[in-house]
Amino acid sequence: MVESGSKLLGRLAGVDLFSGLDDTILSDVAARGVTFQHPPGDAIVRRASTSDVGLRILLEGSASVEIDGVVKATLAPGDVFGEMSLLDHEPRSADVVAGSEGARVFALSPLAFDPLLDDHPDMARTLLRTLARRVREAEA
Ligand code: CMP
Repeated sequence: MVESGSKLLGRLAGVDLFSGLDDTILSDVAARGVTFQHPPGDAIVRRASTSDVGLRILLEGSASVEIDGVVKATLAPGDVFGEMSLLDHEPRSADVVAGSEGARVFALSPLAFDPLLDDHPDMARTLLRTLARRVREAEA
C-alpha cells in the first residue's frame, strides 16, 4: 500500500532508529520500503519463517510478540521488530500479531536496509541496544 509521502516521513522521523538521519536520507529510506495495513489478529511475521526477512516498523496500531500463543512483548508505534532474522539470517524467532485496532507496518528488505547500516553506524548501535534490551526483558 502506498502511504502519503509526507505522513510516512513524519512517522519515520519519530522512530528512534532513524533519529540520526537527515531529511534526504530519510526520504530515501521511505522510498525503499513498503507499507502494509494488517487487520486485527493478522500474523505480520510468522515464527520459523525464512521467506519474509527484513526489518519492520510499527507505524500505527499495536502488535504482540508471541511464542506458542504466549505473549512475550507488546509493541507500540515507533517500535522496530524483525531485527533478529535480519542480523543473523536465522528463521523468525516469534510470531508478531496485529492488535485489536490492526497495525500499519513499514517493511524494509535486507537489500534496502543493509546499505543504510553500512553508512550509518549509529543505526547499528541503536539496533544492538534494542536487541540487548529484549534479551534483558526476556531474562527478567
Ligand atoms: P525476528 O526473529 O526477525 O522476528 C520476530 C521478532 O519478534 C524478532 O525478530 C524480534 O524483533 C521480536 N521479538 C522476539 N522475541 C522478542 C522478545 N522477547 N521481546 C520483544 N521482541 C521480541
